[in-house]
Amino acid sequence: MSSVKAELLTSPAAVKFKDSMGGQYDEGYVKISPPGHVQPAGFMDDLPKILDFQVRPDDVWVVTFPKCGTTWSQELVWLLMNDLDFDQAKKVPLIDRFPFLEASTIIPQAVKKPPHSLDVVGGMKSPRLIKCHLPVELLPKQIWSVKPKIIYVARNAKDVIVSYYYHHRLWNECTLTLDEFAECFMENVVSYLPFWDHILAFWRLRNEPNILFYSYEDMKTDLAAVVRKVADFLERPVPAEKLPQLLDHLSFQKMRDNRAVNFEGLVDDQRVGVGLRPTSSDQTFMRSGKVGDGREKLSPEIQQRVDAWTRACLEGSGYDGPR
Ligand code: A3P
Repeated sequence: MSSVKAELLTSPAAVKFKDSMGGQYDEGYVKISPPGHVQPAGFMDDLPKILDFQVRPDDVWVVTFPKCGTTWSQELVWLLMNDLDFDQAKKVPLIDRFPFLEASTIIPQAVKKPPHSLDVVGGMKSPRLIKCHLPVELLPKQIWSVKPKIIYVARNAKDVIVSYYYHHRLWNECTLTLDEFAECFMENVVSYLPFWDHILAFWRLRNEPNILFYSYEDMKTDLAAVVRKVADFLERPVPAEKLPQLLDHLSFQKMRDNRAVNFEGLVDDQRVGVGLRPTSSDQTFMRSGKVGDGREKLSPEIQQRVDAWTRACLEGSGYDGPR
């Protein structure tokens, strides 16, 4: 920890992004080095506790860059680990069944209610299911010696930019345009960036026996194949007669209408907690659920820049990225 440094981001793009967040992150964003990872400044208070967090061998972690299919994968993993208990899955909010490790370290002050998410996860019965968006370098150090199962999900950059933009509009009423947000994304001034470093670090670990790597695009192309892969990895086979019900439960339409996974109540709690009006009907967490939104929504000029930036970030890695 002593070797980790946090530097306040002060570039014009960083200030523009911070100012677009309605005062919710007025303390600004920091770049944490190594590895050069961006978080709200307040995150540093909890980083030592995160790095020293006790990991258990039977934990199952879903780790992603935000907007890559985390919720979708969590719901799948929870069902596999809980004998496909669809009734319970519809009754209990996913956030309680499968908590978000660093939630209390990054959400705006107004809704930082006890208990702290690190204590919630620390106090769970085994086997724990844990959601986390942190990069390889900032995960609890014990992860690399205890080696619990980790599922990592990637997604193509353009669709993540669009999805992350609408995420910031939904939770924080970010006032940037989509193209302005895309510029801030490529300049690494938004939480959890840099994007490709996050994905590449896990892509390099994809053949480790305790790591399963797939993409949102894989789920969209053949969800049944991903279900089989995850079921094999977790050693929780799905009886053939149950597969149709599982696929139906995980469909975009069903998840969009399922209050246990669609964040409906939570979004309004947070918005009202920070002085925003409740969501309008066109603002939902389960938003579009498709591949290709980036090509439809980003301007041609920004798309060219994202393509060039992606090529530069992936050059020499041997990985072309999800598509
Ligand atoms: P869009 O904003 O592109 O619609 P995360 O859970 O990592 O935050 O990812 C959220 C993204 O996954 C959103 O993408 C959301 O709509 C999409 N998503 C969630 N459940 C889905 C499902 N069952 N099918 C397809 N997409 C889903």
